[in-house]
Amino acid sequence: MTPMLFDTHAHYDDEAFDADRDALLVALPQQGVALVVNPGCDPASSQKAVALAERYPHVYAAVGWHPENCAPYTPEGLAAVEALAAHPKVVAIGEIGLDYYWEENPPRELQRQVFREQLALAQRLELPVIVHDREAHGDSLAMIQEFPQVRGVFHCYSGSPEMARELVKRGWMLSFTGVLTYKNAKKAVEVAREIPLEHLMIETDSPYMAPVPCRGQRNDSTLVRHVCEKLAEIKGISAEECARITLENGKRFFSIP
Ligand code: NI
Repeated sequence: MTPMLFDTHAHYDDEAFDADRDALLVALPQQGVALVVNPGCDPASSQKAVALAERYPHVYAAVGWHPENCAPYTPEGLAAVEALAAHPKVVAIGEIGLDYYWEENPPRELQRQVFREQLALAQRLELPVIVHDREAHGDSLAMIQEFPQVRGVFHCYSGSPEMARELVKRGWMLSFTGVLTYKNAKKAVEVAREIPLEHLMIETDSPYMAPVPCRGQRNDSTLVRHVCEKLAEIKGISAEECARITLENGKRFFSIP
């Protein structure tokens, strides 16, 4: 099989892959996965993402501080993220953003500070950003509007069609996970139908969010084909064409040759 699929978001530094990480990553190109971006969730996880990118030609890294992991936040940690961003295989700052879903998450004010400082970092380094927005659509949109020069992707997109249109108008991308294949994913399907394909990317968010028919299992990049097939069905095109276009979108977005 020609490797055609681009899984634009997978966490292989997660301990869920401790038993078979190497075997799994080595085999991806033979299984149709051409490229993977592994975002970091804090300075230590970002360091691991960079190490994986160094080891596998088809793996790239993003570095950043996830809103769920941003306490304790230190300027030294942010400096470590900035230093990692200089690595040639780091293609974005991420994942960063706001998560108002969990009560026990770091305080919203801290989340906004850490998000804002990383948007400023992305602007300074001229890198795109990977945004995590859960139950924080209004604040996330307001925050990125403070940085009109920064471009990025809202990963695992869960906002409204109106917000999607606003993001696309600003040159941003949206990406979809296995959630697109779930029965209750009406809003995501509606957005995927409406937004032009050149603004869409696909991802697994492994080890989470496994698509139907593997929902509930550990996810990995080979399963991104189910997301691709679902998106192709929504768009009324073949899975091959959807794979080819989302691969090109990802390469363009992350500046991967
Ligand atoms: Ni993620």
